[in-house]
Amino acid sequence: MYKIAVIPGDGIGKEVMEATLNVLNALDIDFEFKFGEAGDECKEKNDLALPQETIDLVKKTDACLFGAAGETAADVIVRLRQEMDLFANLRPVKSYPGTNSIFNDLDFMIVRENTEGMYIGEEEYIKDESGNINGAAAKRIITRDASERICDYAFKYAKENNRKKVTGVHKANVLKKTDGLFKEVFYEVAKNYKDYNIDSEDFYVDATAMYLLTRPKSFDVIVTTNLFGDILSDEGAGLVGGLGLIPSANIGDERALFEPVHGSAPDIAGKGLANPTAMILSAIMMLEYLGEKEKANILDKAVLDVLSEGKIVTGDLNGKSSTMEMSEAIKEKLNFK
Ligand code: NAI
Ligand code: MG
Repeated sequence: MYKIAVIPGDGIGKEVMEATLNVLNALDIDFEFKFGEAGDECKEKNDLALPQETIDLVKKTDACLFGAAGETAADVIVRLRQEMDLFANLRPVKSYPGTNSIFNDLDFMIVRENTEGMYIGEEEYIKDESGNINGAAAKRIITRDASERICDYAFKYAKENNRKKVTGVHKANVLKKTDGLFKEVFYEVAKNYKDYNIDSEDFYVDATAMYLLTRPKSFDVIVTTNLFGDILSDEGAGLVGGLGLIPSANIGDERALFEPVHGSAPDIAGKGLANPTAMILSAIMMLEYLGEKEKANILDKAVLDVLSEGKIVTGDLNGKSSTMEMSEAIKEKLNFK
């Protein structure tokens, strides 16, 4: 039995979560869903966007499904990542049929370092002699430990998922010490995997940004530091079209949280218009994390079938169906034989 923390949050977070639990409940896996509150509505009610009760709940479960928060998103999701030391942010770039994907057969994974780099939040003003602010500086921390942990995660991911190549992305020509270290550690880790036929290469981040457009099919697994990963993964999302389609996973040594990339979408919330695909694909990443590979494949195939047919899909995919109608259609496509 798996205990899953479920945090629907705000707006369409609640709708796509309901649609996702609907398909998960049809998979014949013994789940116990434990609901937790977080987000704008929770703050209005309890004066806190992320109550300790919710943090404790997440810590007691095997994995967490998170919908979306509204204006309090940073207080909720950044805090949850820190509390659970979720060091790896995984964003698959995969094209599905019947969508606005620019390329029709992309399938690579971006592994972003989630704990340091430009995101440590250490900024300060630079003042002139009279005390006036005339500049600002941000600190960027790259440690050997975190670099090793994320590079090892990327190679292990490649090994376990039959990927053939890992690309390390950095700017070591300019950021000589920080990214110099990241690049050095990347190749040290690569050596540990030389028996598994996984190629390694490295590129500067600017060149990578171009290659993602000119030859995206040459990528298999990309591993990079926090800010570069943030930017490149949005570029990757752009390649395969639409926020309603992009899942993500935040993984730590002991815990993991799965969430769509989109937010609470107040413009369409409460109307049954939200595409549940991103949340369902996030749940598929959770199934893989839990070791339920077979059920993950069955659900992925059902999503693929519904998208390919393009009949029972939401408005963002040029259909007329509601969130729950699309969820039901996916459920009906589940094929266990
Ligand atoms: P958003 O992702 O909520 O919406 C952007 C646009 O994409 C909107 O037009 C929306 O209708 C559309 N969209 C998003 N998901 C969709 C889906 N599943 N199906 C169909 N259309 C979809 O981002 P926005 O508008 O910048 O932010 C709205 C709120 O969400 C803000 O309060 C923001 O703070 C919060 N937010 C929360 C995040 C989180 O909880 N992880 C992430 C991003 C934003
Ligand atoms: Mg981002």
